[in-house]
Amino acid sequence: MNAPTFRPRRSCLYMPASNPRALAKAKTLAADTIIFDLEDAVAPDAKEEAREQACAALQSGEYGNRELIVRINATDTPWFAQDLQQACRSKADAVLVPKILSADDIVQISDLMDAYDPHLNTRLWAMIEMPLAILNLKEIAALGAEHRLTTFVMGFNDLAKEMHAEQDRSVFGPVMTQAVIAARAYGLNIIDSVYNDFSDPIGLEAECLEAKKLGFDGKSLIHPAQIETANWVFAPHADAIAEAEAIIAAFNDPVNAGKGVIVVDGKMTELLHLKQAKQLVAIAEAIAAFGK
Ligand code: COA
Ligand code: MG
Repeated sequence: MNAPTFRPRRSCLYMPASNPRALAKAKTLAADTIIFDLEDAVAPDAKEEAREQACAALQSGEYGNRELIVRINATDTPWFAQDLQQACRSKADAVLVPKILSADDIVQISDLMDAYDPHLNTRLWAMIEMPLAILNLKEIAALGAEHRLTTFVMGFNDLAKEMHAEQDRSVFGPVMTQAVIAARAYGLNIIDSVYNDFSDPIGLEAECLEAKKLGFDGKSLIHPAQIETANWVFAPHADAIAEAEAIIAAFNDPVNAGKGVIVVDGKMTELLHLKQAKQLVAIAEAIAAFGK
């Protein structure tokens, strides 16, 4: 397989870790990734209980092959240190840290993680939701890759608030492109922001399609009703798989042996397209295997 470390992150479902019904329900849901939230969705009085419940969930072994993430509270809050320590000790797949501003933040957090998790079980994911983070995208992605950082998660609710902008997706087009470019330049994954109106599947699908087109790996979600749409949009579709298989077959044809450019289905097709085609087929296979 071309992408041995690939794992699907089409659907990344947030849930308040203070909500035991949501934590129980998540064991039955087809989300690729579960994000136990200790931050925005948890009231101050419930922070400690939420942390305990998230850690118990992590250690329960009851979430199958879903990737388990804890969104902790920001570095300048009284809960940050304990959140980070407990999430690492409970072997979360990653901690998602909100309100990241700079590469320095990433270095400081990963230094702390080295003490709690010397065996590197837990990765670092960064919320990109502050104006300064947008200005520092390149530095964060570049330094982060050496400091456990594997994934950007866009947070447009907070970014709109900070920018004094309207909650209108069109505002974020340039930011989405910049963030994807920064992430890909340094080998990071990137997940789109949430769609708040969870009773509107048409609007959700439009946002998922837009994000997929721009290169995002998946979408963060807030409600189980959104999972199927994200899983469908962000998986390679049958027509794309057929096209990829035709490219692979054409390059395997002995008449094309040694050629760098050929014609497939009337289109110029180069070795870079072959590489892309193999990657797409590998992703489709990984998703199929993940669901089993
Ligand atoms: N994860 C897991 N299960 C969830 C869920 C989630 N995010 N949201 C809802 N559910 C469950 C409910 O518990 C309920 O299951 P149950 O009947 O077994 O209890 C079922 O899905 C239907 O829920 P519904 O009644 O439609 O929604 P609600 O009114 O209970 O909750 C929200 C609506 C928005 C409060 C809830 O979806 C939520 O908390 N979402 C996540 C918010 C969050 O984490 N925000 C931070 C990131 S922006
Ligand atoms: Mg927020």
